Amino acid sequence: MSIAKPSIQRYPSSGEKAAKKLRLAMIGCGGISEHYMRAVSKLDRIEVVAAVDTLPDVLAAFQKRHQIPDVFADYRDMLANVSTDAVCVCTPNLHHAPISIAALRAGAHVLTEKPMALTPKECVEMIHSAQSAGRKLAVGFQYRFHPATQMLKRAADAGQFGPIMHVKCQALRRRGVPNWGVFAQKKLQGGGPLIDIGVHVLEMAHYVMGSPRPVSASGNIWTFDGNRPNHVPCMWPDWDWRQYDIEDMAVGQIRFENGAILQIEASFIAHIEKDQWNFQLSGTQGGANWDPPQIFTNHVGTMVNIAPAYLPPMDFDGLFKAKLESFVTSVLDDTPLDAPAEAGLAIQEMIDGIYRSAEVGHEIDIRTR
Ligand SMILES: NC(=O)c1ccc[n+]([C@@H]2O[C@H](COP(=O)([O-])OP(=O)(O)OC[C@H]3O[C@@H](n4cnc5c(N)ncnc54)[C@H](O)[C@@H]3O)[C@@H](O)[C@H]2O)c1
Repeated sequence: MSIAKPSIQRYPSSGEKAAKKLRLAMIGCGGISEHYMRAVSKLDRIEVVAAVDTLPDVLAAFQKRHQIPDVFADYRDMLANVSTDAVCVCTPNLHHAPISIAALRAGAHVLTEKPMALTPKECVEMIHSAQSAGRKLAVGFQYRFHPATQMLKRAADAGQFGPIMHVKCQALRRRGVPNWGVFAQKKLQGGGPLIDIGVHVLEMAHYVMGSPRPVSASGNIWTFDGNRPNHVPCMWPDWDWRQYDIEDMAVGQIRFENGAILQIEASFIAHIEKDQWNFQLSGTQGGANWDPPQIFTNHVGTMVNIAPAYLPPMDFDGLFKAKLESFVTSVLDDTPLDAPAEAGLAIQEMIDGIYRSAEVGHEIDIRTR
């Protein structure tokens, strides 16, 4: 695939001395951008110099709330008029790829929210754009920064589990359809709970596994309640059921090149006892659970369960601070990304593969590289 070289080079190349503070533009000023702004307020090496949103009222309120110098209704105007080091893409999923590609071509580094895009093909185009422009492209995968994930990653890297054979991922809500934004619309989001929340558990589990290459997928999706008026009291009532054309529940299985198998269950609506946000892994030498974090192994002739005596607490805002700080450090100090685009592509191959398998009714090859 040939990608045009960026026509303008207004930003320092990676070899040049980086600016002291990273000049960031927020693109999309809705719910999740507020978590980024709280993270910005706690970090020293970043400032937000511009913001973009297609909704004038949302944009004006965001500018006022956060004292943003420049605001724009169109990201292309922002890219043409503001000298930013990086952009943070917080729009509905449909726009992640075109905005990221435009920003990379304009010479900005990019942190795009999850999922990386709608399809693996878009992810590949984004990666090519980053390579052509010599810019960094990160995905907003915050759960790899969680202390429990980090503990399991250290254990996996130290060989505590031996080769990991099986991972079971769960992102299950009994009744938790977002009642804001456009999360119920497939054309804007690419799907439902699998692409919206399954993506998070997939990214942390795949990271702990050592990022093996996914080769095939099999799965199914079901819609049975979300597209009808809801009569059950729940945490987010009154979602937009009329426009709801996503799945309520998805179940899938991924086979990796090294023979490992990953299973994922994701739902906005499922008849289960309680919500679950977890993964379990089984290796030849040991296994683990993410919540509560525990390692299962043999020790001096006994089966033991190892639990951390202490892990630093980390709430949602703490996760956003960690992921933004990691991106800022990577850009300013030119160090490798902790959540690189290649990880985003692998996750997208899995998600897209499960959706395509559901359409055709059998296991499919998901290799795009
Ligand atoms: N990492 C996480 O834990 C997490 C959590 C929630 C949402 N997200 C992701 O963040 C993104 C946004 O979700 P949200 O909850 O903030 O949604 P939201 O609907 O609250 O906000 C999206 C904003 O983008 C604006 N927008 C739409 N098209 C635009 C465009 N072309 N240019 C500029 N602005 C545009 C909308 O007007 C809206 O204000 C989604 O991709 C979602 O998957 C991530």
